Order: sequence, then C-alpha cells, then structure tokens
Amino acid sequence: MTTTKKIHKIGVLTSGGDSPGMNAAIRAVVRIGIHHGLEVYGIRRGYAGLMEKEIEKMHLGSVSNIIQRGGTILKTARSEEFKTPEGRKKAAAVLKEFGIDALVVIGGDGTFRGATDLNKECGILVIGLPGTIDNDVYGTDFTIGYDTAINTALSAIDKIRDTATAHSRIFFVEVMGRDVGFIALEVGVAGGAEEILIPETPTDLDGICTRVQEGRARGKSSMIIVVAEGDEAGGAFDIAEKIKGKIGGDYRVCVLGHVQRGGSPTARDRVLASKLGAAAVEGLLAGKTNVMAGEINGKVVFTPVNETWEKKKKIDMELDRIAKILAK
Ligand code: F6P
Repeated sequence: MTTTKKIHKIGVLTSGGDSPGMNAAIRAVVRIGIHHGLEVYGIRRGYAGLMEKEIEKMHLGSVSNIIQRGGTILKTARSEEFKTPEGRKKAAAVLKEFGIDALVVIGGDGTFRGATDLNKECGILVIGLPGTIDNDVYGTDFTIGYDTAINTALSAIDKIRDTATAHSRIFFVEVMGRDVGFIALEVGVAGGAEEILIPETPTDLDGICTRVQEGRARGKSSMIIVVAEGDEAGGAFDIAEKIKGKIGGDYRVCVLGHVQRGGSPTARDRVLASKLGAAAVEGLLAGKTNVMAGEINGKVVFTPVNETWEKKKKIDMELDRIAKILAK
C-alpha cells in the first residue's frame, strides 16, 4: 500500500450518493494539493464523467464559497460501464492522456471498489475519503455527511412529534441507511422514539404491538416508531400495514427520504471533511495508495481500501440496549 512513484497531478471526484460535506472535502483536496505544488483536476460526475473526459483544472478560487454548501460541485453518478474492465480501461486511458498520476475518490463502498479495480488493473494510485450519510464504512468512526443527516432527520422527527402529540397518533418514520441502522439508532435515541427498528437486530412485530398497548395503558397517546429503510421486516409502510390491525388507533407513515442527503453541512462534517481531505493529499505525497483516510478516536487512520467493505463497522449495541429502556 505504498509507492515511490512521484506525483505531479492529482484528480478528485465524488461518486455514488452525495453527502453533505463533500464540497468541504473537495475544497481541502484542491487547496492542500496546490499548497504542495501539485496540479489538481476536478472530475465531474464521478467515474461516468471520467470516462467522458469531463475534467477541468482546479484553482484556489474554484473552491471558494463552497464549504457551507450541500451536494457536490463536481456532481456525482453511479456508472454501470465503469464496473466493466473495458470501462476502467477507458478511464485509465483518459487519466494517462491528462497526465493524472493519482485519484482522490470521495464516496462509499461502491466508489472504493471501483478505485481498487482501477488500481489493480491499470496501476493508477488511489486514495479514498468516506463520503456517505449511511456511516457504513469500516475504518472511520464517522463518514462525511452522517452528522448532518442525523441532525436533519432529528429536526424532522421533533416536528413530527408535535403533530403526533396534537392528534394522539402513532407515526412510523422511515430514515435512510440502505443496509444499516446507524441513522435510525442515533436519531431514534435523540428523538426519544418509542421503537427503533434496525437491520442489525431482529424485529419482533408482536413485541412492538404489546409495548404499544402497554404504553397506552400507562397514558401514552402518541408514539414514534423509527424504521431504518433496510430493516429486514420491511420499510415504514410495510411495518405499519403489518401491525395496524393489532395496535389499533390512528396512525400515519412518513418517509424522510432524500431530504436527509441535502442541506448545509454541520460544523462536525466540515471539519472532518477538511481534515480527511488534507490527509488524503498528504498521504498520497507520502507514498500511500489503495487506502482510505478515516478518523478513529480523533486521529487520522489509513485503512486498506478493501477492508472498508470487507470488514463491517459495528453498530453500538449498548446504545440499542439503553434506547429500549429509555423508550418507556
Ligand atoms: O447510500 C446513501 C443512500 O442515501 C442510502 O441511504 C439510500 O438507500 C440510497 O443512497 C438511495 O440512493 P438513490 O439516491 O440512488 O435513490
């Protein structure tokens, strides 16, 4: 995972689902790169744009006034063509044509798998930055965008609580997290949810019905059930449909959806993105390749990029235990 190859030109791209803080990461890569005398190229629309030569040289001013903006100025995409060896050959040829020695890729596991293949097959130096709201990347305590997403979801849940209370209703609120429950668990605890359904723990629908009835008997007239979109028992609509007959009363379903992906990044996400963006460039200059820059216990850590998806980051089961007690 180290190289002695001299680097003069680097490219930066964002790929997969966008996340708040990606712009702060791009800004850090561009400015730290230029600080160290590198030429930095911005690649638009991820790997799809790379294959189509959507590349432009970045200057200090190219990243002015973006640290506070959600989304990604480089745009993003999911490319099927890049998943083929032919697609990656095309991408490698474009990088060669532009004289780009190394790539900083910002995204989640799909992005990193692509970068690894590109490195293996074409020798391009690559370094990853964890950018996804799902927080499902091994090798970093938090991914860029997760903090903003949980705060956005929490603010929505607080609002839903107001109307749920006013109408004495049960709300099933679905939050994002394709295969994981990081957002659901933390937002559920912070929002005082009565139930939190995550794919990491078995969902006991009968148990939920019993607890809802017990809650009512204690005088609870409204409740919030947070459902991770990847829960094995189904999404919020499915769960509501399955148990509405047993719990009775008035209920509503709210899927928070892509609202969780947008918005101005929190201070935590901006700082994390700035720190890791700098680490990625300085890591490349120190000869690192095929690794991801993450932060563990406040320190920058480089993890072999294949481990970021081969190993699974664990959900905090202690928090899950406490959540069940607090939900009373
Ligand atoms: O990976 C981030 C994420 O927002 C997941 O939480 C969600 O399942 C998925 O992306 C949605 O992807 P798309 O924007 O392509 O619908």
